[in-house]
Amino acid sequence: MHQFTPQRIMGLREHIVQAVKALLDARKNQYQLDLVQDFAYPLPVTIICRLLGVPPEDEPRFRVWSSALVRTLDPTESLSEAEVREATQSRTQMREYMEKLCATRRAHPQDDVFSGLVVGDDPNGRLPESDLLATMELLLIAGHETTVNLITNGMLTLLRHTDVLNRLRRNPDVLAIPTVEEVLRYDPPVQFRTRTTLTDVPIAGVTIPQGASVALLLAAGSRDPARFADPDRFWPERDDNEHLGFGGGDHYCVGAPLARLEAVTALKALARRLEAPRLDADPPPYRRNAALRGPEHLQVAFERLND
Ligand code: HEM
Repeated sequence: MHQFTPQRIMGLREHIVQAVKALLDARKNQYQLDLVQDFAYPLPVTIICRLLGVPPEDEPRFRVWSSALVRTLDPTESLSEAEVREATQSRTQMREYMEKLCATRRAHPQDDVFSGLVVGDDPNGRLPESDLLATMELLLIAGHETTVNLITNGMLTLLRHTDVLNRLRRNPDVLAIPTVEEVLRYDPPVQFRTRTTLTDVPIAGVTIPQGASVALLLAAGSRDPARFADPDRFWPERDDNEHLGFGGGDHYCVGAPLARLEAVTALKALARRLEAPRLDADPPPYRRNAALRGPEHLQVAFERLND
């Protein structure tokens, strides 16, 4: 948390705006884009590498490793042998890379998150080496595999609710933040997380025994009719929207401010710049992952790209 300072995140604002602009400008004179491949994936990846301190030329390797590792967030029984093998190989390769990067940053610290973690300028002291490597891996994977789905699920939902899209277009400064919050509740990128109970946990009239594996269905909680009015309605203007999109408690998402900033900037630009956007296929094809939900491709056609 100490490394994710508001100054550091806000310092990325202009880079995010410029990256969004460049990705959309690249579609000039074209009337279609794959929102995932052409926009929603490259954006957070560029930004996370810059924030953490991964040299841009090394990024393609992370793409391969992180898509293999992310499968391991699903229940083990749903993974094929090949997927387990690929994930194991990716973990080894990523770890070797990280060890070298740690050594370089230790010798020559820069103004980035990895240098801060390696040098250990945290008030609670330096992380042990194994925690350091695990944290670096987690940050890179989280930065690669989540915000892409927030932007894509957001645009998909807006294209299915064109009244909201038009309102966002007319009034981006008022509506962009609540729209992103509502996407996090209504179609969240992280559907569930798992835990192992350390003690007996009495909850809602049952006791979960110590040592049990528990799946926390965050997405279902965010649609609990006892908690949210009209939970299945996509309604950015709702009053009380304390969703579980970024988890809760001690493990609340470290990257939430960054993900919010990227998604707000992205959806504002998409709503303004794509003239008369429409979906080519609905539903789109989805990525094979139960824990992280989002389309693999989202083909969007439009009449022109506004400046
Ligand atoms: C839309 C994008 C994102 C969503 C929906 C999301 C969601 C979540 C959720 C639900 C958790 C809780 C996990 C748990 O309780 O087990 C979490 C934790 C975490 N997230 Fe994110 N995240 C996003 C983006 C990011 C980004 C961009 C980063 C990194 C820069 C990041 C880094 C982390 C880390 C390190 C944790 C673990 C915190 C801990 O265990 O203490 N996340 N995220």
